[in-house]
Amino acid sequence: MDPQLLNLHDYHRMARGKLPKEVLDYFEGGAMDEVTLRENTAGWERLKLYYHVLAGIGERDLRTTILGQSISMPIGVAPTAFHKLANEAGEIATAMAARAAGTLFILSSLSNTPMESVFPEAASPRWFQLYIYKDRGVTGELVRRAEAAGAEAIVLTVDAPGLGTRERDMRNRFTLPEGLTVANVTPLGKGQLPDVRGSGLAAYVQDNFKSDLGFEDLDWLCGWTRLPVVVKGVCRGDDARRAAEHGAKAVVVSNHGGRQLDTAPATCEALPCVADAVGDLCEVYVDGGIRRGSDVLKAIALGARAVLIGRPILWGLCVGGKEGATSILEILRRELDEAILLCGCAKLSEIGRGLLQP
Ligand code: FNR
Ligand code: LAC
Repeated sequence: MDPQLLNLHDYHRMARGKLPKEVLDYFEGGAMDEVTLRENTAGWERLKLYYHVLAGIGERDLRTTILGQSISMPIGVAPTAFHKLANEAGEIATAMAARAAGTLFILSSLSNTPMESVFPEAASPRWFQLYIYKDRGVTGELVRRAEAAGAEAIVLTVDAPGLGTRERDMRNRFTLPEGLTVANVTPLGKGQLPDVRGSGLAAYVQDNFKSDLGFEDLDWLCGWTRLPVVVKGVCRGDDARRAAEHGAKAVVVSNHGGRQLDTAPATCEALPCVADAVGDLCEVYVDGGIRRGSDVLKAIALGARAVLIGRPILWGLCVGGKEGATSILEILRRELDEAILLCGCAKLSEIGRGLLQP
């Protein structure tokens, strides 16, 4: 084990030294004052674990299922845009890393590699994250292509009817370098970020994404696809419940890694309300600020079935391509296993809210 790369913070530090400033700022940054960005990580740290002793724990079992599909641990890869900014191996390397770790891979709509090239490299479960374009034809075709390419669920991101203001990206005039595109929609004439004074991505979202997203869009998607639909980006119990009633098979409690509405609650604060509101209506996952195995355990204690990891995968990809991203997942696996042992649990179903209460 490389003593410089023991944990996710080490990978972040290493990636900081390697990435150009505008890419680092895009990956690392959040919206406005970055309050939610900071709170996501701080929130998990603040929760304290009232562990059991003398529990006689032998082998631990980290396996679970999501939408009926087996994963080796309750930690999956969140959809993030533009992996070739981190490493020229791009989304194919990330897909292979999730496969090596035996866990979920979610491909972003905004990948630099077309989904037809990525999904064959990903194992089950492999899901496609969807942004709804203003042009229903474009959106409909993206879903059809994802189905044909082997995607097993559609993850509809609902927290971005517009892009949150990321001042770092505005100052850097963030855009994609020559040669990189929004590859999935290049054949549809939507592959380029516009050259503007502020953030090219913000302008792209404003030009292309449907800003008046409503529950009727969720209804449309559930009717259009034969795949299960997951709704990503909820922070309230009422919305989550309504999404399930409109056909979502799972929801992701997420604030987009603090990149959308600043001062939205940390996901650890939103999670228990959502879990209580939906009950058994649908599965609940969470992402945002998860950096240690103990954070994963806390998420499960608060009602999540699994967690997703965003930025740390990008740091792993930057530092070491497929191997680096795999290491991120393996570090979290090791840390979760340790946290479970030290909490006196043998399997995920034994992790309850009681661990967070005196
Ligand atoms: C994202 N996220 C995101 N979400 C999504 O649904 N579609 C996308 O294309 C992207 N793109 C994206 C790019 C980058 C650089 C980041 C950091 C994030 C949000 C992502 O899925 C996830 O919600 C957060 O990243 C989780 O927080 P952490 O783990 O990064 O703290
Ligand atoms: C982001 C978008 C593209 O967070 O999801 O950058």
